[in-house]
Amino acid sequence: MTATQIRQAFLDFFAAKGHTIVPSAPIVVKDDPTLMFTNAGMNQFKAIFLGEEPAKFPRVADTQRCLRVSGKHNDLEEVGIDTYHHTMFEMLGNWSFGDYFKKEAIDWSWELLTKVYKLDKDRLYVTYFEGDEKEGLAKDTETYNLWKQYVDEAHILPGNKKDNFWEMGETGPCGPCSEIHFDSRPDNERKEVSGAVLVNADHDQVIEIWNNVFMQFNRLKDGSLQPLPAQHVDTGMGFERLVRVLQGKTSNYDTDVFQPMIQFIAEKSGKKYNSAAKPGDNDWSEAVAMRVMADHIRAISFAISDGQLPSNNKAGYVIRRILRRAVRYQYQYLGFKEPFFKSISAFAGGTV
Ligand code: SER
Repeated sequence: MTATQIRQAFLDFFAAKGHTIVPSAPIVVKDDPTLMFTNAGMNQFKAIFLGEEPAKFPRVADTQRCLRVSGKHNDLEEVGIDTYHHTMFEMLGNWSFGDYFKKEAIDWSWELLTKVYKLDKDRLYVTYFEGDEKEGLAKDTETYNLWKQYVDEAHILPGNKKDNFWEMGETGPCGPCSEIHFDSRPDNERKEVSGAVLVNADHDQVIEIWNNVFMQFNRLKDGSLQPLPAQHVDTGMGFERLVRVLQGKTSNYDTDVFQPMIQFIAEKSGKKYNSAAKPGDNDWSEAVAMRVMADHIRAISFAISDGQLPSNNKAGYVIRRILRRAVRYQYQYLGFKEPFFKSISAFAGGTV
């Protein structure tokens, strides 16, 4: 499947389950002092979760442009070095506003991954929240039992507050979550070391693809958790990671989302992109630089088109830092002598 078909299959699947498809919110957040940029699909629904606004529809699905470069969720320094973090990425999401809860969320995520996308079940691992005494939160045995219907127990793993209790920021909606990870290592490696020990261990071939959050609390300024008026579902699947897994690649940058841009950068710089380059190899810095440029130009293009120009303060300064990082890599490692970004910004539009 192409990236476009993969995105559409997600939206069609949830439309058939009674979800209304809604547009992505802008990447720049102007009306929430706790947030500069949209960092998750749920941001635009925060007021609904908190019970401050009624939901227009009980179930929605969308694909949201997210930027994780500041605050609680910041991936900037990983980008380019590894093959699966981005500054800007698309998050495929389905939501229930006080409607369905854990059972349907889990049933449908499994159905979509294994029946529609036909992912190999042996390569999937799921997690559940192990509880946290200090916070007074119990172990999420309901989620564990729901997964047990489909998944071998050796592939159901407990996770701590850091990985399995999702929070939007220092304050705001939050709740226990259940992640789905995919192991794309070759069979011989999988036989030697179980994927179970590599989940959430920063292994670039055992990566999280989907997070299902069960929204139940509001984190208040004093650090306490207040139960929400209703229980909700917030899911987020990393589109670029899903495409990589479905296209059988070992790097997000090897998919049809990024390859046209990378090949153009490679051609114009007169260098070859080596996806397999390792730290210490001659072409490592060049490969990192090409990934940084391809990633950052998307972030900058969409931030600008959503209303945030680079500037010298606040959100504008963050965009300027991304721009500077990209320009630095471009001159330092790829030998460009002239401004080049405007020639690749056209590609960025085609990727979303
Ligand atoms: N809010 C959760 C996340 O960002 C799931 O959508 O991971």
